[in-house]
Amino acid sequence: MRVLIVDDESSHRDYLAEVVKGWGFEIETAGDGEEALALMNNSSFDILLSDLMMPKMDGFELLRRLRAQGTLPPAILMTAFGSLEKALHTIHELDGFWFLEKPIDLTALELLLKRAGAHRRLAIENEELKRQLSFTGVLGNLVGQASAMQEVFAMIRQVAPTSAAVLITGESGTGKELVARALHSNSRRAQGPFVAINCAALPEALIESEIFGHEKGAFTGAVERRAGAMENAQGGTLFLDELGEMPAAMQAKLLRVLEDLRFRRIGGKVEIQADVRILAATNRDPLKAIKDGKLREDLYYRLNVFQIHLPPLRERKEDIPLIVDAMLVMMNRKHETKVPSASPAFLDALAELPWEGNVRELRNVVERAVIIAGDVPLEPKHIGHGYRRPAAAADPKPERSEAAEQPGRVGVDVGMTIDEAERLLIEATLEHTGNNKTRAASILGISTKTLHVKLRQYRLEESAAGEEEAVDA
Ligand SMILES: Nc1ncnc2c1ncn2[C@@H]1O[C@H](COP(=O)(O)OP(=O)(O)OP(=O)(O)O)[C@@H](O)[C@H]1O
Ligand SMILES: [Mg+2]
Repeated sequence: MRVLIVDDESSHRDYLAEVVKGWGFEIETAGDGEEALALMNNSSFDILLSDLMMPKMDGFELLRRLRAQGTLPPAILMTAFGSLEKALHTIHELDGFWFLEKPIDLTALELLLKRAGAHRRLAIENEELKRQLSFTGVLGNLVGQASAMQEVFAMIRQVAPTSAAVLITGESGTGKELVARALHSNSRRAQGPFVAINCAALPEALIESEIFGHEKGAFTGAVERRAGAMENAQGGTLFLDELGEMPAAMQAKLLRVLEDLRFRRIGGKVEIQADVRILAATNRDPLKAIKDGKLREDLYYRLNVFQIHLPPLRERKEDIPLIVDAMLVMMNRKHETKVPSASPAFLDALAELPWEGNVRELRNVVERAVIIAGDVPLEPKHIGHGYRRPAAAADPKPERSEAAEQPGRVGVDVGMTIDEAERLLIEATLEHTGNNKTRAASILGISTKTLHVKLRQYRLEESAAGEEEAVDA
């Protein structure tokens, strides 16, 4: 424990320093409050032992300043006999420290120092606990306290600093891309680029040039030299998403790059040294993908130095409240809404759902609920229609006509066509948003363009004619 002793009387100060050192504490000394403040700003002390009456800055002022900047350790103030009474009003203002009257009773001082030390230890432990809590519950944009997620976090911390390839597996929407980003930002390459390539979204013919780039004239259409993802990711991380969708020939080329750490642009003569860390993800079961001929076995073993598997959300439902909280903050910011919280009933309702789309689906449900709720806590009624099956089924006789008359509800009857039902829903949503089409489209989960098309189709849009060309163009 480090103790800072502040006293303007040097002989008293030195005497105390000797004694306290003899009790096993580490000592620094200062001659007045200003000097003490400077020392406190440069290093940290566990206990402050200060005289009250000092020139320049007295003991109270010192405590006040330290309290204001949030660096006040447990403190003991030494006062001249009889001055305690004068100081009483200040005692009320500043709590959390001890008084010791002069002349100092050494037994009392030792006792107080030990007590102060115990307080300090507790404060440090609390701080550490809080830090660990926030550390374990959140990693980058990943939230999760379920033990399976804790294992994922531990793995990320362990492998992030290395340059090893990592294969990230898990169903769609479980957070594979977030893991890739966390690996990058916790690595020594964090300042470098993070480049993601989605193998499923690229036509086969383009994949190779997207990854390796090409020289001018390498193939028809290659009118200019172009750097690929591998080159753009130099000094950083290349994330190959949906690896199982990469053509077999390309997988073979990728394997070669992983072995030699060199590559060429298509049509290029020079070999480029690859200073790139490769991360890959697939939502297929890799062993099954190998069997189905979708994933090369040799590539799999090369990438599988480390595998991080994300469990589906249905196997970690205890994380739902935590994830919802994080999404609330995010969605309030995005949509400029003021939803204060999610009600227990809302969370209970979410826990009942199967979550086949995993966390991405959960995010969409929360986003939609936040838009609809606006500024009140999220309730089950804010969950989209398709999700309320369990509750509706529990109701033996849904009173449809009555429901239809409630604001914010649409009456749909057997015998209607899907078009009619859709039209009713669009009408009601527009009414709800005060004819704000952007917000209505957002609630309906379609683009504004699609909404306009449907409005025209159902002749719900007065000024359709004027916009017709713009939309079709
Ligand atoms: N643990 C988590 N904490 C908070 N948000 C999460 C978490 N996991 C996923 N998400 C959210 O879900 C969305 C989908 O995650 P991500 O894109 O990483 O999934 P994926 O596994 O790559 O899915 P796909 O296989 O469909 O590409 C993210 O944008 C994020 O909003
Ligand atoms: Mg993904």
